Amino acid sequence: MTRRTLAVVSAGLSQPSSTRLLADQLAGATRDELARRGHEVDVRVVDLREYAHDVVNNMLTGFPPTALREAIDAVTGADGIIAVTPIFSASYNGLFKSFFDVLDAGSLVDRPVLIGATGGTARHSLALEHAVRPMFSYLRAVVVPTAVFAAPEDWSDGTADGALRGRIRRAAGELADQIERRPPTSGPADPFALTTDFLQMLGRGGDTTVS
Ligand SMILES: Cc1cc2nc3c(=O)[nH]c(=O)nc-3n(C[C@H](O)[C@H](O)[C@H](O)COP(=O)(O)O)c2cc1C
Repeated sequence: MTRRTLAVVSAGLSQPSSTRLLADQLAGATRDELARRGHEVDVRVVDLREYAHDVVNNMLTGFPPTALREAIDAVTGADGIIAVTPIFSASYNGLFKSFFDVLDAGSLVDRPVLIGATGGTARHSLALEHAVRPMFSYLRAVVVPTAVFAAPEDWSDGTADGALRGRIRRAAGELADQIERRPPTSGPADPFALTTDFLQMLGRGGDTTVS
């Protein structure tokens, strides 16, 4: 049995939030699927509305306040990420984009990501494919094939209907597959870690002679 970590990012602004509801159901299905395969799962939910002011401060100053730093570390250090946004003007909302904008470059490379969205109309479901998926492709994350969109008619009394439940289950299975293919992460990347040999940084290549 290995311990796996899942970070759930929800950019819903309402309270209660249908985006958060979808995020929780995706997280539950993924946790159940990983548990069925013999993994213990730690789930950390990052509800972005709680960090909205911090995200803007980070954009203005270049530094995350402590609470946001801790949330960023939970996301960049997770074995898998579930990222769910409400659709605003046929795309992700500004808070969702801004959060991923303040992450260090390279911090999501090869990271399995399941994307989801909620909207007022199913006609905008392809925003997941023309906006959300390309953003994570740019960040070089590995986005699972099934993206889950929930329109108002997909819910009855806060419960996903049969078709939505099926999409959630399929996407959760795909995320579990990607997580299982990789060793557990060693935590968030150190932004100050040396990525180049120190001597090479001094322009001295492999020559270790001290003169
Ligand atoms: C400013 C704004 C723009 C919106 N634009 C769209 C849109 O283009 N397409 C759509 O399907 N829904 C749109 N919606 C509806 C939201 O996506 C929908 O209500 C969403 O589920 C809200 O999520 P929440 O309950 O987590 O806040 C918009 C809502 C707002 C407030």
